[in-house]
Amino acid sequence: MKQLLLILLSILFIQEIKAKSYEGYKVYKLKPENINHDKIIEYLQEDSIFYFLDEGQIESGKPIDVMIEQQYQNYFENMLEKNKFKFDVLVDNVEKVLEQERLDQRLTRTSGLGQVTFNSYMYYSEQMAYLHRLGRDYPEIVAILKLGESYEGRDITALRLSSGPSTDPSKTKPVIFIDAGIHCREWIAPAVALYIIQQLVENPQNALFYQNVDWDIVPNLNPDGYEYTQREDRLWRKTRRPNPNQPNYCMGTDLNRNFDHYWMYAGASSNPCSEIYAGPEAFSESESRAIRDYFLANGETIKLYLSFHSYVSMVLYPWGYASTLPEDHEELQRLGELAADAIHRSTTINSRYTVNTSTLALGPGAGGSDDWVKGVANVSLAYCFELPHGDSPFPFLFPARQLFAAVRETFEAIKVYHQYIENKFWNNNNQ
Ligand SMILES: *[C@@H]1O[C@H](CO)[C@@H](O)[C@H](O)[C@H]1NC(C)=O
Ligand SMILES: *[C@@H]1O[C@H](CO)[C@@H](O)[C@H](O)[C@H]1NC(C)=O
Ligand SMILES: [Zn+2]
Repeated sequence: MKQLLLILLSILFIQEIKAKSYEGYKVYKLKPENINHDKIIEYLQEDSIFYFLDEGQIESGKPIDVMIEQQYQNYFENMLEKNKFKFDVLVDNVEKVLEQERLDQRLTRTSGLGQVTFNSYMYYSEQMAYLHRLGRDYPEIVAILKLGESYEGRDITALRLSSGPSTDPSKTKPVIFIDAGIHCREWIAPAVALYIIQQLVENPQNALFYQNVDWDIVPNLNPDGYEYTQREDRLWRKTRRPNPNQPNYCMGTDLNRNFDHYWMYAGASSNPCSEIYAGPEAFSESESRAIRDYFLANGETIKLYLSFHSYVSMVLYPWGYASTLPEDHEELQRLGELAADAIHRSTTINSRYTVNTSTLALGPGAGGSDDWVKGVANVSLAYCFELPHGDSPFPFLFPARQLFAAVRETFEAIKVYHQYIENKFWNNNNQ
């Protein structure tokens, strides 16, 4: 026993040494007020010493968060002051906040293998053990599907929940497809997907939710990145596939710029070092291809697509490539507002969502999964669901102690979506 403890301690110790340190890094909130300021932001974006944090999307006149390491801070602040560019310091030392999160993680880790927890963030292996346990315990309703593999060979796993094929030969059951974790540092997203799974499968009160509607849920679409954020670099966003002739910190592709719908049209980068690098070509990543192949094989039955991200509290819908509105934007807006209202009614952490197209809310970002699902796979109702940031000083680090409140309120939105899909595609009530 003592030996085991020593081994465990030394593993923790080694991880700590290997992890990338953000000692002395600051996060600034920039408040652009004129075209000159916008130009400065554009210029900074091309330089990898500036980490842009708001989903990488920039819109003229909107405040934006950027993280910078210590050695450039004086130069940076002087430059801002010379240009009368206003800013706040959001986080004084990023490493301090990360340390606190690691501590919280260790204190609250409770789950045994095969269990789920919402007091802390689970490892990918624990998430998968939970799904497989559900597959064994609920074989009548749960199937575990492998949609593909990540670059490093981890399974891209979906849980399929169904009470069986339709008994009415005149109609097929609509499917709700959910994924989470495209951006691996947004840890709250897989947690929300796991809570949806837990509530649907394990809470008998929710059995009606899978009577007439089937569910496919992929709780972790970027497992390589997720493990990397758990063990090495908390703030990694992209995949982990190396780019030829690039240094380590320029690895990976932004999955949410890698889908083949107006690929690289706007708000995406061809620079491998950029956080919004779209990849060498559309669908260059096995993770985005896994989604593509599943939709091309099952597209007609899928009626709703939800992709969970964080941290700006927004229900977003296509288009993300340009400010054009889709034909059915009124329906997308209305359904998004119903979902947001359900959260507002039940929130205990003061979540305030807005609803809009991605481009109008955040600026363009072509190649997003929701754009492709709507534009190519023909699933009309597609959303990018931006979860809140809670009261963490650093927006990505949604505090574990608020996690249960966040997953619970988000499930209220899921109920709304379910009811809408069941009414429209099973009961055939046009709404
Ligand atoms: C969407 O965003 C645009 C640009 O900020 C704004 O003018 C518009 O009112 C927003 N739409 C909704 C429905 O809030
Ligand atoms: C989507 O709709 C278009 C236009 O009707 C059609 O050409 C295309 O084959 C459809 N795509 C899929 C995946 O069904
Ligand atoms: Zn994201």
